[in-house]
Amino acid sequence: MMRSLLLSLTVLGAGAVAQQSAWGQCGGIGWSGSTSCEAGSCCVSQNAYYSQCVPGTACSGTATTTATPTPTSGGGSGRTRFAGVNIAGFDFGCATDGTCNTTAVYPPVKDMPPYYNNPDGAGQMDHFSKDDNLNIFRLPVGWQYLVNSNLGGTLDSTNLGYYDQLVQSCLSTGAYCIVDIHNYARWNGAIIGQGGPTNEQFVSVWTQLATKYASQARVWFGIMNEPHDVPSITTWAATVQAVVTAIRNAGATSQFISLPGNDWQSAAAVISDGSAAALSTVTNPDGTTTNLIFDVHKYLDSDNSGTHTECVTNNIDDAFAPLATWLRQNGRQAILTETGGGNTASCETYLCQQIAYLNANADVYLGYVGWGAGSFDSTYALDETPTGSGSSWTDTPLVKACIARSS
Ligand SMILES: *[C@@H]1O[C@H](CO)[C@@H](O)[C@H](O)[C@H]1NC(C)=O
Repeated sequence: MMRSLLLSLTVLGAGAVAQQSAWGQCGGIGWSGSTSCEAGSCCVSQNAYYSQCVPGTACSGTATTTATPTPTSGGGSGRTRFAGVNIAGFDFGCATDGTCNTTAVYPPVKDMPPYYNNPDGAGQMDHFSKDDNLNIFRLPVGWQYLVNSNLGGTLDSTNLGYYDQLVQSCLSTGAYCIVDIHNYARWNGAIIGQGGPTNEQFVSVWTQLATKYASQARVWFGIMNEPHDVPSITTWAATVQAVVTAIRNAGATSQFISLPGNDWQSAAAVISDGSAAALSTVTNPDGTTTNLIFDVHKYLDSDNSGTHTECVTNNIDDAFAPLATWLRQNGRQAILTETGGGNTASCETYLCQQIAYLNANADVYLGYVGWGAGSFDSTYALDETPTGSGSSWTDTPLVKACIARSS
């Protein structure tokens, strides 16, 4: 190991300039390595802390840490329309079998009874918006919390009132706000439309939410978080269709709606598991697919579980490149609503590479949303919660390196 390291150093020292390969880092505050990219790539700034060699980019002079992203041959503006963070807490207590212990909800809403010293989700979003130029927040909530565990019943006015405080705080930043029902396609262990709740019971909660937010153009309807082990993807697509129709008919005629596939919304599985094909049949009442957006998740750890602090992949070759091709061929777009990693060097490298790829393919990727801030704290492996208050906030290293934007 030591011997080959010395050899490499010698070789580098003998050459004129070491060139970074495609997707490698080439600049940013604290970067002391090469700022030159191999032929075919140019150094593009993601933010003040991270610049990266992006293939197919038209080079515009010498890259600096403050260079603005340039358009790339991938397609789009060179920057996704949306970037943001999940503000979690109203989903705490929800398990992957669709049980939600509503006592464990930990709202990121300050001064909310029965708690009076909750995490300040409003302050976090204000900071992310003003200091990091983020413009989308996903607000997970348990289905049981919304209806006070009354399946198919009316929205609980008390609980909805608390959740709506978070939604209104989000809207007041000017950002888009994803209402995400965080139930894994289930209620208490059974799958919607496939042995569990009826489509009508699921449609009921969405009809009420869409009615409430019909006039809010920046509310985004996140139909369901991470369906998994769903037996029939075509039956699931029919459930999603029923919800889309209900949301539109409730008066939310044009807002974004997420289409979530099977396999935990894995961006690497969405084509192969049939989710993309099945969900591509879902339409608005007028037959179009306008603002019906494929919603994918992807972590960068060894098993795509988002539980490890070290990252091992940038997900480009196995997930985001093939999906970009499929989206272009089918005239569709996707958003990545969960991604992230530990506050480690490996995650900074790979997450920044992944996000650079999304930015370079902004014609088909609408954005990315990190997981997660809100009620998480520094004990959480994937913590993205900034610390501070008022006008003084400090981001976690991974947010600073990869998710924050310089303008
Ligand atoms: C529900 O959450 C509360 C608060 O975290 C906890 O005390 C309680 O044991 C949980 N109940 C179950 C059944 O897990």
